[in-house]
Amino acid sequence: MTITSGLREDFLYGFATAAAQIEGGGKEAEEQSGRGLSIWDTFCDTPGKIADGTHVNRTCNHLELYKEDIALMKSLGANAYRFSLSWPRIVPLGGSEDPINEQGIDFYNNVINECLKHHITPFVTLYHWDLPLELFNRYGGWLDKDSIIRDFTRYARVCYERFGDRVKHWLTLNEPWCTAVHGHGNGQFAPGHVSNTEPWIVGHNLILGHAHAAKLYINEFKPQQGGIIGITLNGDWCEPYDDKPENIEAAQRKMDFALGWFADPIYLGRYPQSMIDILGDRLPKFTKEEFAVIKDSSETYTTNTIKAVRSDDEFTGYTTMAFDKPDGSIIGLESELDWHRDVPWGFRKHLNYLYQRYQKPIYMTENGWCIKDESKLSPAEAIRTWHVYQYYDVGRVKFYEGYTRALKEAVEIDRVDVRSYFGWSFLDNFEWASGLVPRFGSVYCNYETFERTPKDSARSLMKFFIDNVHSS
Ligand code: NOJ
Repeated sequence: MTITSGLREDFLYGFATAAAQIEGGGKEAEEQSGRGLSIWDTFCDTPGKIADGTHVNRTCNHLELYKEDIALMKSLGANAYRFSLSWPRIVPLGGSEDPINEQGIDFYNNVINECLKHHITPFVTLYHWDLPLELFNRYGGWLDKDSIIRDFTRYARVCYERFGDRVKHWLTLNEPWCTAVHGHGNGQFAPGHVSNTEPWIVGHNLILGHAHAAKLYINEFKPQQGGIIGITLNGDWCEPYDDKPENIEAAQRKMDFALGWFADPIYLGRYPQSMIDILGDRLPKFTKEEFAVIKDSSETYTTNTIKAVRSDDEFTGYTTMAFDKPDGSIIGLESELDWHRDVPWGFRKHLNYLYQRYQKPIYMTENGWCIKDESKLSPAEAIRTWHVYQYYDVGRVKFYEGYTRALKEAVEIDRVDVRSYFGWSFLDNFEWASGLVPRFGSVYCNYETFERTPKDSARSLMKFFIDNVHSS
């Protein structure tokens, strides 16, 4: 077997963030910035929705500290930065006739220019879950197909017009599965609906919203601007419990109900058969015209954290999720969030599966490891726990080592076409319903002072790419 050495010369690597998770510097600062409210603001105002009672309007103050943050990325060696634009910061009320907040445009122009000044490629997500509240109040947000397509497409147009001369890598939506299932199925995320019909409608409308925004770019902007556009989809690698046909089929079904739900219509032109069989009429149908818009609406392909599991409700196609094997062994070390395991071999298998099934280049848009705040422990106490002290994040270093090795094997041995890797996340940040306690950052954020301190993984992760991309 021929083994080529190293990753592509133009491989993009760095860290990922999202607007709502890092920008806020406090309620007053957010109000002065002209940002409109998002569904996450009211969700945070509702007692009991956020585990530690923290609020999306006070996170890492990136709004003021973006220059320092981008300079820090540069000093760590990153050549790209994935971040999202806040729809309500750009169009506070969100709608196609609503005014633009020029302060918001200035902020993102500054962020983009600062990236370019440091030779960091901006990799931009249009929608990372912070829906303008007004659109939810007007018509239910993603529940209303025609209205949301109209408003999201106009917001996308504003972004391409204002930033597209410098941004060449676009993502329409971040993880639509989470919006559909956590936002409209189990109610864990804003807007907090619990339903067994809404997720399938919302999912359908998200696919169409993505497709319209992507087609707008491809048809009207790409010819002059020359960038690429895709979508970030999440899904776990599902390893069958054993080799019984029903377990093999269940593992496939679980993958169909996660990533396949979105990727199959976009790349293969149909919903997965297992979803059609199980959901019947609750799964909306695409019209011929809609299919014409969806087809080839994404030129790139993305995924994120992978674990090897089986799971157990309708949203997973009635599969049973677990981490054990018949011999009693457990696959992968558990992080401090129950859905998340360290299983690098599952990541390699998943990359192979995605490449074979969809035959598109893969942009890894996030991958990361969570550790709760250990800063209350003395170094001596902390050293006794396996993941150690706040800045010496050996658990995360080890996680990234395993996953980057698996990535390298998938590229060099299996010849999977992977073109980027972003660690989730640059900074510790607002982990949605879990608040500020779970820490995913490679840079520590002191939430009192907003001071940043790089942890060990920040350097070790970037060093892997510097060695492997540039030495090839
Ligand atoms: C994926 C999401 O895009 C991001 O917002 C979230 O914080 C991480 N996963 C970790 O849960």
